[in-house]
Amino acid sequence: MPVRKIFIAGAGNVGSASAAFMAMKQLGNIYLYDILEDFSIGQAMDINQSLPYWNSDSRVTGCHSLDEMEGADVVVITAGGKRAEGMTRLDLLYQNLDIMYDIGEKVMERAPGAFVHVTSNPVDVLTWALKERWPDMNITGLGCALDAMRFRFFLAEHLNVSREAVNCTVIGTHDDNMVPLVGRADVGGIPVKQHLTQVDEDRLVTLVKHGGGDIVKRLKTRSGFFAAATKVTQIVESHLYNKQHIFPVSVMVNGEYGYHDMALSLPTAIGERGVHEIFEFDLNDQERAMLDVCADSMKKVIAEIRARK
Ligand code: 2OP
Repeated sequence: MPVRKIFIAGAGNVGSASAAFMAMKQLGNIYLYDILEDFSIGQAMDINQSLPYWNSDSRVTGCHSLDEMEGADVVVITAGGKRAEGMTRLDLLYQNLDIMYDIGEKVMERAPGAFVHVTSNPVDVLTWALKERWPDMNITGLGCALDAMRFRFFLAEHLNVSREAVNCTVIGTHDDNMVPLVGRADVGGIPVKQHLTQVDEDRLVTLVKHGGGDIVKRLKTRSGFFAAATKVTQIVESHLYNKQHIFPVSVMVNGEYGYHDMALSLPTAIGERGVHEIFEFDLNDQERAMLDVCADSMKKVIAEIRARK
């Protein structure tokens, strides 16, 4: 397989950790971009010097020109403002929207065939914005894929079992409206609900919903990044190796669950073509109502963005 070119826009914590994890997994040669040239070069130097331990011959190159994206197979967009304590992901919208449009333009000019993956927040809205402006862009957003991993962690901790024994997902939007599908989670094939009281269930759902915010509260001026970068790496790997692993990434909907013209985080098979299939559950009334809340709030934000133009 030829060595793949992966371009990461943003050498902050999520971007740099993604570069490091992808290099450790030897997914390709990585171009780590930042507006601060020395910063991205320094991060790249540090990551490269760690790679002998990982038996990896990947190379990370720090750069400060988006033109270095030329011919990239994968573009990961992590650039943008970060949440500080007390901010919601939506508070970042307008700041990050303009950054997305600048980077998106470059993607379509330099790497139009790339698999694009965005992590900047509010991720579902930004995924929609890029796909709306460039319908041919092959894009997904991290969305609830991160929350699903957090949910798995919290369930495994609560049940005191291996994290591998738990299967679960979270759909909707990567914000407080997200829908952890407790009723569909299983441990070793047994529904987790059989092991949870209502109090347990409520506590675990709250932990997942506040997972990102609880980290920001402690870090004060920045968000968590190890988990996000891990999930980004797994998603890119699934694309490059055509694994068709299923993640609740943020995708543009086209009639799924009856929704149109918005991006939602839904279970999606990621393979060589990017999105291969979006899966639809037969949701019960309660799950459906919670997903509707996500869709309604997304609709409002989209209307606000359109009114601003
Ligand atoms: C998180 O939930 C930063 O949105 C990201 O940690």
